[in-house]
Amino acid sequence: MFDRRSKPLFHRPRFSELLVAAAVVSASVACAAEPDASADVEVVGVSGTELHDGRIPNSFPFPNEAGTAATYSTAGFVDSNNPFHEPQGRNGRSCETCHRIHSGWSIHPVEVELTFWLTGGRAPIFNLLDANGPNADVSTVAARYTAYGMLRKGLFRRGGTIPSNAEFEIIAVDDPLQTGASLTRVQAFRRPLATANFHIARNVGWHDQNADGTGDVHAGLVSQAVGNITGAQQGDAPTPELVEEIVAYEEGLRFAQQSVFGVGLLTSCGAQGGPEKLSEQAPVKGRFDLFDAWIDLVPGSCTTLSADEKRAQIARGQELFNATNPGGGSCRGCHDAANNGSNVDGILFDVGASRPEFRKPGMPLYTLRNKATGEIRQTTDPGRAIRTGLWQDVDRFKTPSLRGVVARAPYFHNGIAPTLEAVILHYEEALGFVFTKRERKDLVAFLEAL
Ligand code: HEC
Ligand code: HEC
Repeated sequence: MFDRRSKPLFHRPRFSELLVAAAVVSASVACAAEPDASADVEVVGVSGTELHDGRIPNSFPFPNEAGTAATYSTAGFVDSNNPFHEPQGRNGRSCETCHRIHSGWSIHPVEVELTFWLTGGRAPIFNLLDANGPNADVSTVAARYTAYGMLRKGLFRRGGTIPSNAEFEIIAVDDPLQTGASLTRVQAFRRPLATANFHIARNVGWHDQNADGTGDVHAGLVSQAVGNITGAQQGDAPTPELVEEIVAYEEGLRFAQQSVFGVGLLTSCGAQGGPEKLSEQAPVKGRFDLFDAWIDLVPGSCTTLSADEKRAQIARGQELFNATNPGGGSCRGCHDAANNGSNVDGILFDVGASRPEFRKPGMPLYTLRNKATGEIRQTTDPGRAIRTGLWQDVDRFKTPSLRGVVARAPYFHNGIAPTLEAVILHYEEALGFVFTKRERKDLVAFLEAL
C-alpha cells in the first residue's frame, strides 16, 4: 500500500477534511452503544474481506494529522470482540468509549464534540460522572452542552482524597465549575492515556495511582480495569477471568505512527519506525535510534528529493531529542526508555503543566501549604502527591510513551498543549529549553514520526 519508490501518497489534510473524517468516526462512537458492535468498525472503512469476526488485521492503517498510525498486537490481530470493546456495566460505556484505536487509544476532542451534535449529548460518553460537576444540570440539550464543556475538550473529571497524614494541606480552592473539589478532595480534568505499549511501562495512570510505585504493571492494569468497570461503567465487580481477558488484550497492543505524509512508511530506507518493530523493543534505557539510517541522508539518494529531505529532517529531530539542550535539559533525560520515551525506572516528573500560569478556564486551582515549613504553592492538579501526600511529589506525573503521540492531541495530563509545537513551546517556557524555529520544526517532524 505504501510503495517507497512512488510519489508521496498523502497530502496534508485540510481542516474541513479532518472534520469529515471525524464525523465518520464520530458516527461510530454513536453506534458503539447499539447492539451491533461491528457497525463501529465498518464505518471507518474496514471492509468485510479484511475483517473476520471483528479481527482488525495487524498494522491496519488509521489516518491522523501527520499520516497513518497502526496497532500491532502480539495476538496476531486486534480483537474488537474483546470485552474491552463491550459495555461491562449499566451505562452503555465500554473501555472503547474513551480509548479508541483510531485516536491513538485515547480520544480526540473533535470526536466528543461531534458525538454531542449527533446525539444531543445522549451518547453513553455523556454521563454525569464526567460532567463539569456532579450536580450539573443535564436536563436539556442546551444544559448538557454547558455541563459537558470540559468533556467536549477531551477532558475527564477525576478525583482523589488527600491522605490525612500528608505533608501538606489544601488551604484554599477556587472551583469555578463546582467540580466537587474541597479542602480534602482534589478534582481535576485529565486526558485519557493510551492503552498500549505496556511492554515498556512501569506506571499505570497519570499519577501511577494503579501500579502505585510498585512497577507491577500487570497488577496495575488489573486494578485499573476493575475500578473502571465498577466506576466509569457503573457495573458490578467483574470476574477475575473477564479482567484478565481485558488486561491480556491491552498488554498485547503496540501502537506507533506507521507512515507520514511526504515520506511514506517509517520503515523505508533503513528506518526502524512503526508498531511491528516497536513490539520487539526491549524495556531498556537508551537513545532513540529509529531513524539513524536517515541521519544526513543525501536528498535523492533513497527516493525522491523531497521525501529524503523530510527523512533527514526527522533524523535531525531525533538527535535534538537525544541531545543535551543548550538550556541544560534533555528530552531523553526523562523520556529515557529506548525508542519508546517512557521512563524505564518509572520515575514521575513535574514538567510544570499544573502550574497556575498555565491554568485554562474551568480548571480548579488549589493552594497548598507545607505543614512543616509553611511554604505555599498553587496547582491545578497535584498529581502523585494526591496518593503519597509527599510535598516533593506535588505536580509529578508519569512519563508517558511517546509512540504514536500525534494521534492523541491535546497533550499533557490536562490537555493544555493543543499541538506538538505547543508542547515544545511549553518546554521552552517552563523548563528553559532553547530551540531555534528550524529546530522546533525538526523536533515536531520527529515526534510526528513516532
Ligand atoms: C469515561 C472514559 C473512560 C473509560 C470508559 C475508560 N477509560 Fe481508561 N482512562 C480514562 C482516563 C481519563 C484516563 C487517565 C486517568 C488518570 O490517569 O487520571 C484513563 C487511563 C487508563 C489507563 C492508564 C494507561 C497508562 O498509560 O497509564 C488504562 C490502562 C486504562 N485507562 C484502561 C481502561 C480500561 C481497561 C477500560 C475499560 C475497563 C477503560 N480504561 C475505560 C478514561 C476512560
Ligand atoms: C523533566 C522530565 C522531562 C523532560 C526534560 C521532558 N519531558 Fe516530556 N514529559 C515528561 C512528563 C512527566 C510528561 C507528562 C507530564 C504531564 O502531563 O504533566 C511528559 C509529556 C510529554 C509529551 C506529551 C505526551 C502526551 O501523551 O500527552 C510530549 C510530546 C513530550 N513530553 C515530549 C518531550 C520533548 C520533545 C522534550 C524535550 C524538549 C521533553 N518531553 C522533555 C517528562 C519530561
